[in-house]
Amino acid sequence: MMDAGRHSRVSLMTLSEVEEITGYVGNFHVKVRRKARYVDSGKCTACGECVNVCPVLRPDEYQSGLSTRKAIHIPFAQAVPSSYILNMDDCLGNNPIACGKCAEVCEKDCIDFNDQDRIEEFDVGAVVVAIGMDVFDAREVPEYGYGRYQNVIDSMEFERLICAGGPTGGHFVRPSDRSRPVRIGFVQCVGSRSRVHGAEYCSNICCMNTVKDTLLLGEHYPDTESKVFYTDIRAFGKGFEEMYNRSREEGVKYIRGLPGEIEEDPATGNLLVHVENTLTGELEEHEFDLVVLSVGVRPPKDRDRIQKLLTLSKTPSGFLMESHPKLMPVDAPTRGVYIAGCVEAPKDVKESVCQAGTAAARAGNLLSAGEVTIEAYTCRIDAEICNNCGQCAKVCPYHAISFVKGAKTPPTVVEAACAGCGTCGSECRFGAITMRHFTDQQIEAQIDAMLAVDPMDQIFTFACNWCSYAGGDMAGISRLQHPASGRLIRTMCSGRVDESWVLRAFRKGAPMVLLSGCHFADCHYIDANRQTVKRVLRLWDKLEKLGIRPERLQLEWISAAEGQKFAKVFQVLEEHRLRVTKEEIEQTVKVLEEEHLKKLAREAKQAAKRAEKTAEATA
Ligand code: FES
Repeated sequence: MMDAGRHSRVSLMTLSEVEEITGYVGNFHVKVRRKARYVDSGKCTACGECVNVCPVLRPDEYQSGLSTRKAIHIPFAQAVPSSYILNMDDCLGNNPIACGKCAEVCEKDCIDFNDQDRIEEFDVGAVVVAIGMDVFDAREVPEYGYGRYQNVIDSMEFERLICAGGPTGGHFVRPSDRSRPVRIGFVQCVGSRSRVHGAEYCSNICCMNTVKDTLLLGEHYPDTESKVFYTDIRAFGKGFEEMYNRSREEGVKYIRGLPGEIEEDPATGNLLVHVENTLTGELEEHEFDLVVLSVGVRPPKDRDRIQKLLTLSKTPSGFLMESHPKLMPVDAPTRGVYIAGCVEAPKDVKESVCQAGTAAARAGNLLSAGEVTIEAYTCRIDAEICNNCGQCAKVCPYHAISFVKGAKTPPTVVEAACAGCGTCGSECRFGAITMRHFTDQQIEAQIDAMLAVDPMDQIFTFACNWCSYAGGDMAGISRLQHPASGRLIRTMCSGRVDESWVLRAFRKGAPMVLLSGCHFADCHYIDANRQTVKRVLRLWDKLEKLGIRPERLQLEWISAAEGQKFAKVFQVLEEHRLRVTKEEIEQTVKVLEEEHLKKLAREAKQAAKRAEKTAEATA
């Protein structure tokens, strides 16, 4: 932090909040709220006179509320800049000044009660999101008594208590009577790997954090008796297994099983832990002076705001999603945005540092190149056909289409921001949008060619490039048996699949049509597949109205790793296909041909109207 603060090419904006980010790769415009400090950090020498006279005491957030701070304070010892801030929510009042003692004693005249928030705006080429994480609130597991029993603490509080810069100067004491605890219990997976409390994912860092804590305690207080209650110990990093073994060799007891309940003895403040030892199958009771709950990692509270600001996507667990887990692990789906640290997933310091370095290097590469190479399959809007409805801008997951409501000019595509999902193309009712290399004509030609021979024998499938198509590959590589009736057309995203293509496939005699894409949170174009769902629902309605069985159109989410699911889906669809009779297909073709002729007539009318308008305009 200090290095960053002193670096000539780094502007460190502390006590600031990003309020708005607009633009696209290479051209982001950022608005930042610089919050009022009420203390001039340029003049403040951190002499501490103001703190001595401030009468307001509040729980110190940095010390997990285990000690207090004044209304005017330095948030933590290594804070940059190393000067005081005045928390106006705590201050006795500045308008009118109700106390003002800090201002009276400040010889440098640093206190300014009239300080105001400022908005600063600037342009940047790339953005790195590294907003960290939160931890699970152990109060959500009432049977452990956190918040009710003083001597049940969480792992964050443990860190403060054992730290030389902590509220007790590193003397490890228990909160109820400030005596030194000798028998200490650690409970793992609090808020992690649970379907009842917290989240189902593993928080990654808790096992090794506890192993480290037990060693630390052993170093400071060799007579400590530590017991760890665990589901299983995950010590998979470099040197981690050795560290775990060392902890066991030094006498720490590891008991497999998570406690069902913790009870307090009100007279002594000691804690009784009830647990089933899953290795022996015995119910056990253990008494401790202090219990430490190893709390899991949560996505940061600010995540939703930042996600909206930068149009990012998130995983089902709530962490920000990378573009590709192996090939682009720090790139966000929005070009020019990179993610690092626990906002992407729970991870330890080493991994966070690696990821931060990679994100910085990726941003550096982008900026030093001076220009951006984009994929060839972006969208193009035909201004002649466009009806200015703005639907394309509404559905674009990247906000890559600029559209001004009521303006006479048609929307325009910011190509650098367009990722090429093609959702706009399929949502445009006027056929004004073309997706390069996945044009309507190209796909329609593929549909016609595939269904030209033995259409009745086919399960006609639209598969997205990133997941479902790759899922099919996986089924093939894994030599999984599945019916040979599957025929696949690849689009970049399931969001690109146009309603008219599905109807065309039925019109050309397909007995079954499958639309397949990535699982919801896995869509490589943020949430473009949500439009797929809406479209399929519309299609099901339409088919029903036309007297076509909606079951003949199926929607499935298949990931790249789900070869087995791919094979299974086709086995089920094959059974459906065999139930579709020749007469049914002929009836479908007849109905859809009639619909198609009506559509052609409508389009011809629209084209004539447009031609008339153009002629009038030129005249
Ligand atoms: Fe697969 Fe969007 S990329 S559904």
